[in-house]
Amino acid sequence: MPAPRVIPVSASSGDYEVVVGPRLLAELGPRASRALGTLPRRVLLVADRGVPQATIDLALASLGSEGCSCAVALVNADERDKSLAAAERLLLAASAHALDRADLIVVLGGGLTGDLAGFVASTYMRGVNVIQCPTTLLAMVDASVGGKTGVNLPSPHGLLKNMAGAFHQPRLVLADLAALDSLPERQFRSGLAECLKHGLLAADFGDPGLWTWTLARLPRIREPAILAELIERNVRIKATVVGNDERELHPSAGRALLNLGHTFGHAIETLPGVTPEAPGGLAPPPKQPTPPLPAMLHGEAVAIGLHAAAVCAAACSPDAGPAAMLVQDVCAALHAAGLPAHARGLPSDDVILDRMRHDKKMLGERLRLILPVPGGRSEVRLDVPEVALRQALRAIRAKET
Ligand code: GLY
Repeated sequence: MPAPRVIPVSASSGDYEVVVGPRLLAELGPRASRALGTLPRRVLLVADRGVPQATIDLALASLGSEGCSCAVALVNADERDKSLAAAERLLLAASAHALDRADLIVVLGGGLTGDLAGFVASTYMRGVNVIQCPTTLLAMVDASVGGKTGVNLPSPHGLLKNMAGAFHQPRLVLADLAALDSLPERQFRSGLAECLKHGLLAADFGDPGLWTWTLARLPRIREPAILAELIERNVRIKATVVGNDERELHPSAGRALLNLGHTFGHAIETLPGVTPEAPGGLAPPPKQPTPPLPAMLHGEAVAIGLHAAAVCAAACSPDAGPAAMLVQDVCAALHAAGLPAHARGLPSDDVILDRMRHDKKMLGERLRLILPVPGGRSEVRLDVPEVALRQALRAIRAKET
């Protein structure tokens, strides 16, 4: 069995490791003990309902073998359930299990579960330790690393993504590659959207070849060695960005860049009735796992958002040739990754623009967009004209038949 890959994360609020490898959940107890210095008496394990029972049992057995008393709380992996009400239920579960300040919350699930349970860990008794065990590709390469936690808030404009939250770094991230074996294909591809996003900004964070490397390997991306390298390289990008700007304070060159594709994406995924157009216009696979997946996955919305951002960049660029090439490259990469570039059922441009203006990435009255630049870089723009935004929205509309 290949040795696990270990990526250090150095944040101002604490250092920790992201460990990537096969069958790591069987070692959760001992690895948690090492990361924390000693294993706590009590653990609340928060898992999403899509995680197989066998995976939950593996984690529980490993924690139990170290003498931990564990309680399990299950959550729905649905943006509507990433709510203050769900956080309250988890806080009450922690209290009912008599967790104290020295105890631990372990997260087993995708990005949504990690954000929600991480938020609970940041608030329970003003903060307890959390260990993230991501079970989706998206959570492994992005959400579990960097300490962003939060829940959505309702509003008359629809859900406001991650509007209540906290920075709360995990003490350890354990990315068990075996968890990906049972991950539905659509969810796996959703995670590739965050990898492509990283490829579009990696040149400024020490990996200028990531975009080309990823594209060349997409046809074999689920091969274990390739997958492990994909995750490691993406986690390194994330670790570098977070190490430089943990709290997203840099106005133009830091963590804000990770929002590439997300201003469009957050609007798209929170608008009711919007669905991704499957690549090539094919219908999405009919077989739905239990519980059913949401109509629009986060990564699918990000994929469409990457397309929109590339079109916006081309519309703003004085150098039309390379910018137009980049739009083609992004669309080709999305297609090769099995990700959508278009959405069905989008409302009018005005409704979408209004939604985008309620995103928390606004800077005062100004919409802050991250746009890709040819050569594996991205930049923060506060001056994107409305005509470019409308052009991008036109480009991502699926042709209704
Ligand atoms: N997913 C964006 C960030 O962690 O900053």
